[in-house]
Amino acid sequence: MDSATRVVEMSSMEKKMKMIYRMFLVASGLVLATSTLALAQSSKSMLAATPPMGWNSWNHFRGEVTEADIRATADYMVSSGLRDVGYVYVNIDDTWEGTRDAAGNIQSNKKFPDMKALADYVHSKGLKIGIYSSPGPKTCAGFEGSYGHEEQDAKTYATWGIDYLKYDLCSFRHIMDEKSGGDRIKSDAIMREAYQKMHLAILATGRPMIYSLCQYGIGSVWEWGPEVGANLWRTTDDISASYIRMALIGFSQAGLSPYAAPGHWNDPDMLEIGNGLSLDASQTHMTLWAMLAAPLLAGNDLSKMTPETLSILTNKEVIAIDQDTLGRQGERLTAVGPYETWVRDLSNGDKAVALFNRGESSVLFKFSTQSIGWKKATARNLWTHQELGILPDNYEVVIPRQGAVLLRLTQAK
Ligand code: GLA
Repeated sequence: MDSATRVVEMSSMEKKMKMIYRMFLVASGLVLATSTLALAQSSKSMLAATPPMGWNSWNHFRGEVTEADIRATADYMVSSGLRDVGYVYVNIDDTWEGTRDAAGNIQSNKKFPDMKALADYVHSKGLKIGIYSSPGPKTCAGFEGSYGHEEQDAKTYATWGIDYLKYDLCSFRHIMDEKSGGDRIKSDAIMREAYQKMHLAILATGRPMIYSLCQYGIGSVWEWGPEVGANLWRTTDDISASYIRMALIGFSQAGLSPYAAPGHWNDPDMLEIGNGLSLDASQTHMTLWAMLAAPLLAGNDLSKMTPETLSILTNKEVIAIDQDTLGRQGERLTAVGPYETWVRDLSNGDKAVALFNRGESSVLFKFSTQSIGWKKATARNLWTHQELGILPDNYEVVIPRQGAVLLRLTQAK
């Protein structure tokens, strides 16, 4: 792959997969519809021009989430200042789904008595609302999925006023297995077709909705996510509120930068800040996600947020790295034992440099400006908010175990 030109060379296997996938689309008459609708969409303002920011119910509330929790979260997003630094999506994850009525329309269950009223409430706060479903008959938590009802469900979401859909593979895997007879290439093509189908159903409603794919990275989703209309796609299995799991997922994103761009992003899963991680681990989490141009979807209980959690989530200088309009995802520059340096190009010519200590004891971390190809640079520490002036040849900083330092560098003469 030539990362400078962002051209991805396809292996012959990938070419074959693309061809089979295209044959599926042609057979189902989707190619023309796709290009016409894509054209119509491109003339509108771009969805997810920067990585989506908001909150999602799953990491904290799991299957217990209720309409009252969503209303309270919307209130806290405003009162805490989260909304005003960019967190605007309030996303209901799995377990809102009820049964279908006689006409096949999906209804919310008793935890969510009135979705339209809830959406109106969230909108009245200057926020947007997201929902969750699966291309399979059942969601991951065993609730009603959209299989066979894609257009109907998209229409229902639009009627309710939904702005964001997370579409989670879950039980559709069984359908892929059955229909493909275990053939991996066919199975991947069936999966892409299912994701394309919901994309087209959303487009047909005429309501802009962020489209979030959740299939854990299967079939190198970053290579075809944009083709099926995804604005973001999960790249891994689920995160949890442990440093080890968060770091495993976050640092494994190295190499994915060519696939992120305005409109479509790699998604290493939602934030666990405020769910029990130490402050240093939380700072690493936020730093790494900002370097990765990752969606920032808080996953904590906002009613019990500590001032430290809030200040990490609302650090405007760190958010500005995540939301940089160039949309160029950062990459690992060096890894020496447990010490990693990552760099990200920014729209004004600056570079974000993150220094990570993945070790178990604190370290005197050394960084040389020359390692990013510059002779001289001034720097600002985005966690301490200090100007560091011209960085010395071998800048040294103490980083605690599992901690991180995030610098913004400006080239100097
Ligand atoms: C999967 C997803 C999670 C969450 C749950 C809900 O595990 O990866 O993010 O949506 O399903 O059941």
